[in-house]
Amino acid sequence: MKKFLLKKFLSMLAILGMFLTLGENFASAQGKILIAYFSRIGEEYSIGNVSKGNTQIVAEIIAEKVNGDLFEIKPIQSYPASYEECKTVASHEKAIKARPELANRVENFDQYDVIFVGYPIWYGDAPMPVYTFLESYDFSGKTIIPFCTHAGSGLSSTDQTITLTCPDSKLLQGFEIRGAIAHNDPAQTESRISSWLNRIGY
Ligand SMILES: Cc1cc2nc3c(=O)[nH]c(=O)nc-3n(C[C@H](O)[C@H](O)[C@H](O)COP(=O)(O)O)c2cc1C
Repeated sequence: MKKFLLKKFLSMLAILGMFLTLGENFASAQGKILIAYFSRIGEEYSIGNVSKGNTQIVAEIIAEKVNGDLFEIKPIQSYPASYEECKTVASHEKAIKARPELANRVENFDQYDVIFVGYPIWYGDAPMPVYTFLESYDFSGKTIIPFCTHAGSGLSSTDQTITLTCPDSKLLQGFEIRGAIAHNDPAQTESRISSWLNRIGY
């Protein structure tokens, strides 16, 4: 009887091991993942002053769920905390298609196969430092997954602009959520991120 139970226990262990290996293989088949995001601290549309930006909140949840590395896209010159002043700077930068210089670089970018790129929508577009980021690396053959926070505009065709900027990359379906939801409703935010990640296979 003891021998039988031991045999049963060992075969169950073997089956468990098989499942664990399958899981590991699945994770490594997805490749190494980077979550790069731009997010602003200060006076937020319809929220007030924040010490963590809405997009950063979403980026951190994604990083935790997909086990990826986080990278903040940081311009050398940070944006004004005042909402009105930031609008003035941002609309000028968009008008002249500025490429603000960044303060940091991704170490060993080549190691990443999948790059989630996150940003707030500014004037129906991604903030210009996001384009500096996209133009600073070779995205050929990589998978890009956009996500954004906004006050009503959704992705606002930024997924298409990213494709134009990085034509040799593969784009997966992006994610959008209102900044106020990301800021005030963690349960809804987390469940919407989970459903989207499941839909796109992560
Ligand atoms: C300069 C500026 C322009 C904005 N333009 C838009 C816009 O065109 N459409 C929109 O839905 N939200 C717009 N917003 C709101 C932000 O997209 C929203 O508050 C976002 O969640 C901020 O993210 P963050 O905290 O990560 O910076 C704008 C905000 C700023 C500061």
